[in-house]
Amino acid sequence: MGIAVVTGASRGIGLEIALQLCRRGQRVVAVCRSRSPALEASAARIESGIDLIAAQAGPQLAALFKHDDIDLLIHNAGVLHEDRVDQVDPNAVRAQFELNALAPLRLTAALAPRLARGAKLALISSRMGSMGDNTSGGYYGYRMSKAALNAAGVSLAHDLRPRGVAVVILHPGAVRTDMTGGHGLLGAEESVRGLLERIDELSLETTGRFVHQNGSELPW
Ligand SMILES: NC(=O)c1ccc[n+]([C@@H]2O[C@H](COP(=O)([O-])OP(=O)(O)OC[C@H]3O[C@@H](n4cnc5c(N)ncnc54)[C@H](OP(=O)(O)O)[C@@H]3O)[C@@H](O)[C@H]2O)c1
Repeated sequence: MGIAVVTGASRGIGLEIALQLCRRGQRVVAVCRSRSPALEASAARIESGIDLIAAQAGPQLAALFKHDDIDLLIHNAGVLHEDRVDQVDPNAVRAQFELNALAPLRLTAALAPRLARGAKLALISSRMGSMGDNTSGGYYGYRMSKAALNAAGVSLAHDLRPRGVAVVILHPGAVRTDMTGGHGLLGAEESVRGLLERIDELSLETTGRFVHQNGSELPW
């Protein structure tokens, strides 16, 4: 059995993904900047001290996993800075772009040689990256970064298909985590149950879709 790699596993949705995968008996590697007590209490192998926007993150992870076959790679780490049209901070836009869009692409490229045939790649995006679904405006940097992630996800679906790797772009729902200040329609446990169902049903026939954790397809 290969490993499942989850980024941003210290807390929130990423922590819950790691916990639920461990409960299934999956070998999980939790990638984080700093360990949390909840993660330390889990059965996951923890790789801490990894800032995903650092230039060395790709080579660092490639070295850590050089003896592993990866069956599942979940890019979950993300950041949201609120903004408005009259208050757009270019540095905050860049920071969101670096972590939400560029890091998953760079790390996928760095880890591609370790992806097993039949492996799955999941990008935790947001429906806020959808243009068709944008009915309320605002959140410039976050929406732009998630739209860029979605674009990368579709190209990755095309490029990884010949290697037998399927890609899904996921919206976790509005989830009660630090990112949302504890507000949202779903707890992390319920959100992640749906996310894992979507990953379970992913195949090369369905690669490249943008789906809600509840299974409905989302507009780009
Ligand atoms: N919550 C929602 O309603 C919602 C809705 C749509 C999409 N999403 C997406 O779901 C994903 C998880 O969100 P969440 O709600 O669980 O957020 P969260 O509770 O704020 O957790 C964010 C995670 O990302 C990690 N992270 C942040 N910057 C990092 C960096 N530079 N390097 C490595 N890790 C970093 C954090 O690690 P530290 O502990 O080290 O800070 C933390 O583990 C994100 O991609 C988010 O955009 C969430």
